[in-house]
Amino acid sequence: MPAAAEAVVASGGGEGGSGGGGSGVGTARAALALAAAAAAGACCAYLLSAWRSARSRPGSRRSAGVLDGVLGAIGNTPLIRIRSLSEATGCEILAKAEFLNPGGSVKDRVALQIVTEALAEGRLAVPGGLIAEGTAGSTGISLSLVARALGCRCFIALPDDAAAEKAATLEALGTEVLRLRPVSIVHPDHPVNVARRRAAKEGPGSIFADQFENLANMRAHLATGEEIWEQTGGRVDAFVSGAGTGGTLAGVSAALKARDPSVRTFLVDPPGSSLYNKVTRGVLYTREEAEGTRLRHPFDTITEGIGLNRLTANFAAAAVDGAFKGSDREAVEMAAHLLRADGLWVGSSAAMNCVGAVKAARALGPGHTVVTLLCDGGARHLSKFHSPEYLESWGLTPRAKPEDGLAFVEFGHGME
Ligand SMILES: Cc1ncc(COP(=O)(O)O)c(C=O)c1O
Repeated sequence: MPAAAEAVVASGGGEGGSGGGGSGVGTARAALALAAAAAAGACCAYLLSAWRSARSRPGSRRSAGVLDGVLGAIGNTPLIRIRSLSEATGCEILAKAEFLNPGGSVKDRVALQIVTEALAEGRLAVPGGLIAEGTAGSTGISLSLVARALGCRCFIALPDDAAAEKAATLEALGTEVLRLRPVSIVHPDHPVNVARRRAAKEGPGSIFADQFENLANMRAHLATGEEIWEQTGGRVDAFVSGAGTGGTLAGVSAALKARDPSVRTFLVDPPGSSLYNKVTRGVLYTREEAEGTRLRHPFDTITEGIGLNRLTANFAAAAVDGAFKGSDREAVEMAAHLLRADGLWVGSSAAMNCVGAVKAARALGPGHTVVTLLCDGGARHLSKFHSPEYLESWGLTPRAKPEDGLAFVEFGHGME
């Protein structure tokens, strides 16, 4: 009988009842305390205490069980024990079900935090202000959702090779979408640069979200880390995640290490990304980049949202103890395994995160608790990662047999 994914704890998340703190509109005091602390270069512990003391969210929960609007439903996601991975490794492998956020991904947290801080600092006009970002990822959808909930406008620039359903979804959410030919980040027509200019042109009351460099991204994940701490009752040995902006790894690492400095944090990095070498050797380097052998745009991988070849402010803020490499083959097989064995249908970065969790579990040995995120669900990946034709075109049709368990997760990639 296939083992169902098992929710172990879905606690209320502490004072205020709803948890997911730091992610509600109206957390002005939290945002200001955090911004002030960051500016002063204060330590993680201070950031966390400021966040905790200020995280009663006026807009989040009005009475027990009732959320005040869709934004109150962001964060405080269930922590799921992935039974098949736990049994195979002898570790507790737990994952935050971020696909249950209203916008369908972990990026809801980031969008809400960026907007909350902009509101608290008087930079965003509500209603009517424009929120601009350059992204082909889930952040655009999350910003669109938050903008609609607040009566703001949203502008998203994205490369024209992004999946068609992404642009269609953004447009359905009422967002102004601009498709651009893919160019390097230093080019003026890169989506990030176009979005920055657009926000500047709109003038006061409009913002450039800037998820790569804006540390509100990392601060959004202080809440994610705190939820993990509370939901595990403090029994967490390691956290593993891929990095796209680095916000998840930075925020969760800061929160968990502030609670217990012995919690270990690991990166899992897809092919073509430079971050593995940054963590393990201190050098931002990838063989594909150096030799000009890049096969696919942008990171020589079919996984989406993770992998990077430049150092962002958010990744630079991450305290990472070690790194694993993950291959496309491992991610594809993991996604098929999770669906078959646990009934979990997840996206490519979530599958890669689970590959990383298994590698971390093997590196640490049985008896440890390893936590990761399920960043989004499978539905957003129908035309690529979950398309049999697409996988076949890359020679990545899943082939692992159920009886072989996790044999598809390679040893000797990274920490082991
Ligand atoms: C689906 C998905 N997963 C994972 C990530 C990576 O998270 P982070 O940006 O916090 O490093 C992203 C980032 O864009 C993403 O869109």
